[in-house]
Amino acid sequence: MTQLPGLLDTEAIRKDFPLLDRTVHDGKKIVYLDSAATSQKPRQVLDALNEYYERHNANVHRGVYTIAEEATALYEGARDKVAAFINAPSRDEVIFTKNASESLNLVANMLGWADEPYRVDHDTEIVTTEMEHHSNIVPWQLLSQRTGAKLKWFGITDDGRLDLSNIDEIITEKTKIVSFTLVSNIMGTINPVEKIIRRAQQVGALVCIDASQAAPHMVLDVQALQADFVAFTGHKMVGPTGIGVLWGRQELLEDLPPFLGGGEMIETVSMHSSTYAPAPHKFEAGTPPIAQAVGLGAAVDYLSAIGMEKIYRHEHAITEYAVKRLLEVPDLRIIGPATAEDRGATISFTLGDIHPHDVGQVLDEQGIAVRVGHHCARPVCLRYGIPATTRASFYLYSTPAEVDALVDGLEHVRNFFG
Ligand code: ALA
Repeated sequence: MTQLPGLLDTEAIRKDFPLLDRTVHDGKKIVYLDSAATSQKPRQVLDALNEYYERHNANVHRGVYTIAEEATALYEGARDKVAAFINAPSRDEVIFTKNASESLNLVANMLGWADEPYRVDHDTEIVTTEMEHHSNIVPWQLLSQRTGAKLKWFGITDDGRLDLSNIDEIITEKTKIVSFTLVSNIMGTINPVEKIIRRAQQVGALVCIDASQAAPHMVLDVQALQADFVAFTGHKMVGPTGIGVLWGRQELLEDLPPFLGGGEMIETVSMHSSTYAPAPHKFEAGTPPIAQAVGLGAAVDYLSAIGMEKIYRHEHAITEYAVKRLLEVPDLRIIGPATAEDRGATISFTLGDIHPHDVGQVLDEQGIAVRVGHHCARPVCLRYGIPATTRASFYLYSTPAEVDALVDGLEHVRNFFG
């Protein structure tokens, strides 16, 4: 078995993930290489969900009875865990949403309805990048269409990095918000946050970071990042679906208006007007995703017990090995950085002129699960003149043997298509 320095004890870790034991197609053991789409869930998270529903299920912030108080304590306890996980200065800066898309839409809508000095209008500019997931493009297009603000973006270099050569022309005195991904969901590129933030701060623009592909894989310290907003989702970090997070700086959350109105986000309501609860509740209208937040709390406990530095080191070792092995496959072209440096454990590639959907199907027949398509990042495919890619993404439970299985699987694909 291939041994690499920095690997986690995957034999022990994999025992926590029941799905990884599954077989498909007549007993073929699943090789799950699609954690960038969603991660598998450890028993500890599944147990927390079950325990919540079996013993504590009640609505939060409303009841005076025992289990309602337990449910509230569990929900708010999950907020404490997430705040500690991202080193937030205050638990009140952690807003629960349903996913990262909702978190990013929330920022766009806060700014769209805001008063000065945050207001986005026809005389201002919004900046994003060509490397974004659609969830960090479309909300800004909608805001631009609604307000008349100009939408600008950074392009991508041939080797899958952000092209910041024109940073002073892209981020100007007119820029209100710069929103970009920390790690590309399609190419795995880790972006130079500091450089972008420094320029944004020079012109007084706010910064929003999509950390969906970062939070599961590396230390995410919102104080060190120095952004104004950070969005991520639970289901990619061994948590359940239906729970996302928006972290925002406290003074911004105090000043900015809510997006969704309803129960729980108010202080008082009359038929003429309402006043709002303080953040984070101002941004959490209606019954929140309680069980999902509890599950995310368990996910954060699980990842923290292993250690995010160790998880990052493991994935880096796997990525280094995967890049090396994939480049040995004839006709394979990595879309994005063809190195393990400054990149996460997500690797997109094309294989000659075999369509990625065909690659994915033949791999599936061998039990190998990869994602194919444009990965909700179509502008990246347009940039490289390709319709789609095959994407393999690794996580804390991935092994070198799974990399080997992928490479063998790709040989099989090549033979199959002649
Ligand atoms: N955003 C997820 C992905 O990149 C769904 O696959």
